[in-house]
Amino acid sequence: VAQVAAPRVQIYSASSVDGYLAPPDGSLEWLEVVDDAADFGFDDFYSHVGTAICGRTTFDQVTGFGRWPYDNTPVVVLTTHEPPADYPANVTFDDGSDLTALTQRLRETAGERNVWLLGGAKVHQQFLAAGLVDEIWTHVLPILLGDGIRLLPPPYDRRPVRLIESRTYENGAVMGRYSLT
Ligand SMILES: NC(=O)c1ccc[n+]([C@@H]2O[C@H](COP(=O)([O-])OP(=O)(O)OC[C@H]3O[C@@H](n4cnc5c(N)ncnc54)[C@H](OP(=O)(O)O)[C@@H]3O)[C@@H](O)[C@H]2O)c1
Repeated sequence: VAQVAAPRVQIYSASSVDGYLAPPDGSLEWLEVVDDAADFGFDDFYSHVGTAICGRTTFDQVTGFGRWPYDNTPVVVLTTHEPPADYPANVTFDDGSDLTALTQRLRETAGERNVWLLGGAKVHQQFLAAGLVDEIWTHVLPILLGDGIRLLPPPYDRRPVRLIESRTYENGAVMGRYSLT
């Protein structure tokens, strides 16, 4: 993995060839188009994550599966609603009223590591529009969904980005890592 000075604010996601991160109902079965065992270097990426930001929809979906996979990482969940009665120890909630201040605080928390924008699409859009994203890692999986939730929905400004790393996988997935800053 190319080394770039941390902390970097990073989108790291899977999408369809037609640019969706989920079908219209938000379900996850489509990810099975690639072998479950394919981890796309996630463990290495995650070992460089100091803290993460997650939208309430994605948080509710993941916790709904009964197991929170990010116990060792402080995760801030953006929400305008009350937290659930029970939630993982390392999770905090933020009303999202000042994403720039939140990002600055999390950069300091992350220290030598990075800030992962865990998703979903609404989080991607707001951080892009606010100019707070340093990197986008897209893993394009070999499937057309035809419709769904866009990976990087508008609006945000047009801008060139720089490819800093790419990988292809035998299962047909392609990873592109782009720097925005
Ligand atoms: N393919 C991938 O790699 C990947 C990764 C992550 C997620 N996903 C998918 O993405 C889908 C969910 O994405 P989504 O765009 O619908 O939802 P999302 O971004 O996960 O969550 C959106 C919710 O987060 C809260 N929120 C977001 N920004 C906020 C802000 N600035 N201030 C306060 N609250 C804020 C709001 O909840 P309140 O209603 O509480 O205000 C909002 O409705 C799921 O289907 C999930 O599976 C895919």
